[in-house]
Amino acid sequence: MCGIIGVIGTSHSASLILEGLKRLEYRGYDSAGIATLDKNTINRQRSAGKISNLEKHLETNPLTGLIGIGHTRWATHGPANEENAHPHSDGQVAVVHNGIIENFQKLKDELSDCNFESTTDSEVIVHLISYYLDRGDNLIDACRKMKARLKGSFALAVISLKENDTVIGICQGSPLAVGYGNGEMYLGSDSLALLPMTSKVSYLSDGDFCILKSGSVQFFNSENKNVKREIKELSIDASSVSKGSFDHFMMKEIHEQPQVIRDTLNALIDSSSRTSDLSQLNIDINDLSKITIVGCGSAYYAGLVSKYWFEEYAKIPVEVDIGSEFRYRNHPLPDKGLAIFISQSGETIDTLYPLRLCKEKGQYILSIVNSPESTIARESDSVIKTLAGPEIGVASTKAFTTQMVTLAVLALFIARKRNHLSEKKEQELVSALLELPEKISEILNAQDSINKVASQIKDTQNVLYLGRGHNYPIALEGALKLKEISYIHAEAYASGEMKHGPIALIDSHLPIVFIAPSDTLFSKSLTNIEQVSARGGRVIALTDEAGSEKLNGLHEYLIKLPKAHEFVHPILYSLPVQLLAYYTAVLKGTDIDQPKNLAKSVTVE
Ligand code: AGP
Repeated sequence: MCGIIGVIGTSHSASLILEGLKRLEYRGYDSAGIATLDKNTINRQRSAGKISNLEKHLETNPLTGLIGIGHTRWATHGPANEENAHPHSDGQVAVVHNGIIENFQKLKDELSDCNFESTTDSEVIVHLISYYLDRGDNLIDACRKMKARLKGSFALAVISLKENDTVIGICQGSPLAVGYGNGEMYLGSDSLALLPMTSKVSYLSDGDFCILKSGSVQFFNSENKNVKREIKELSIDASSVSKGSFDHFMMKEIHEQPQVIRDTLNALIDSSSRTSDLSQLNIDINDLSKITIVGCGSAYYAGLVSKYWFEEYAKIPVEVDIGSEFRYRNHPLPDKGLAIFISQSGETIDTLYPLRLCKEKGQYILSIVNSPESTIARESDSVIKTLAGPEIGVASTKAFTTQMVTLAVLALFIARKRNHLSEKKEQELVSALLELPEKISEILNAQDSINKVASQIKDTQNVLYLGRGHNYPIALEGALKLKEISYIHAEAYASGEMKHGPIALIDSHLPIVFIAPSDTLFSKSLTNIEQVSARGGRVIALTDEAGSEKLNGLHEYLIKLPKAHEFVHPILYSLPVQLLAYYTAVLKGTDIDQPKNLAKSVTVE
């Protein structure tokens, strides 16, 4: 996703912006640029590709000035080239933008006498501001009038020759934060980007507008009223955004899972009684008629897993949907419904818009996020934080497993409150959760079999993942992981569905990964494995000791996992599918932490 940095009040503005842009790389991008304001001139350097290309340009053409803005672009309108890279400028105004201007073509037609240099939607913003400046407005009023003309989502940073001591920030449907230095002031798309410069930040609310001068900031809300925004101290330390001894952030984050699952559980479980403790949820649980869960990608799969838990233990009907579909359904939501929104970044627009829809329809809004200051968190009635820490790798791992841990505890909490779960049973299930870190560590200490399977599938064109019950979403997650970082096509089916079509795909080439722990459905999984094996298919079985004994050699490869309570299988079996995708990608030499075309937080539709 696009990233924004703004700096005012230091002669090192360009180098600070570059540092901040490097912290935004994890969001995914395909071009970058910086503009500074120096002695009544706007100077600009932009480049397609990686920030290292921009850095080379800056070495030969350094940018000076006390004010600057920078951008990493994730292309939405127009190819990833220098002309379309931000900042956009007409020489009087320079702008960086994160979001989509839905009515840009209409505005571009109205500004037809302007000289457009790009094919982006964002460039209209520059010419619209200049239009008002040329008619006598000051920068602030020109930006206000521009903002009123835009439809869509936009986080903006604006500088202009007209007021060369000011940076304007605007937040509408895309996040923006202000950072406080020692006299310098900063703008950033998220707190990670600001971390190199400051640990003091304020988050703009949706519709906010801010005016940065050296050493000061004013905030205005969507009604243009002067407001205060709280200054928060960032709790992220620099080590959490470095790879440490790992080759990739993704592998580091895979290895952090025992600890962050322990941390997340410690925040949700009463360790003395070994029961869930979610008293911060101010909802009448016995009155709940239905749970609606919305998420995207891995977050959606976490929601799918939890559907089995809510239904089995809390005896409550659950519907799970992907955000981009849910938003456009005419969904007959019930009274007193609980709507849960799952999002690592808390900024995914496909999840945010359904949240707003559910709020309008009177649902109780609960969000499960890894970014407590995010827009989704701020617009919820209650928030449960996953304590995964910053997740830099674009492919979600520790955020995904801590989402499931959180949902598992929530299911137990609701089940107990609705008198469907005895304390004894709850303690049994909580104990299974508490044993997860150790069992995950066991998997992390025995990765050879996974690496070996990776060497066998790295040249294949397709892989099929199959799973039953609450492990079916883990098959979906495994297929997503492999696609995302190794670029091998993979798809997933509920194991029972294979005979209704995908069975036609079986041959001696297609690897078929079965998520098949020895659980209550294992005999059914075994039948499916036999069906594949009988047709000469390539079975890669993920199971445990008991399961491996029953497989009786039907598999080509076996990845054996520690025995665990059936309740926690989806969380435990996430590890091998993460590692299989990782090792396959390593062998393919892809960009594992920033896979092509992918963004860490998709803040556009
Ligand atoms: C997961 O590996 C992907 N990067 C992607 O599917 C992600 O889960 C999805 O975009 C949702 O992001 P969010 O959790 O930040 O809302």
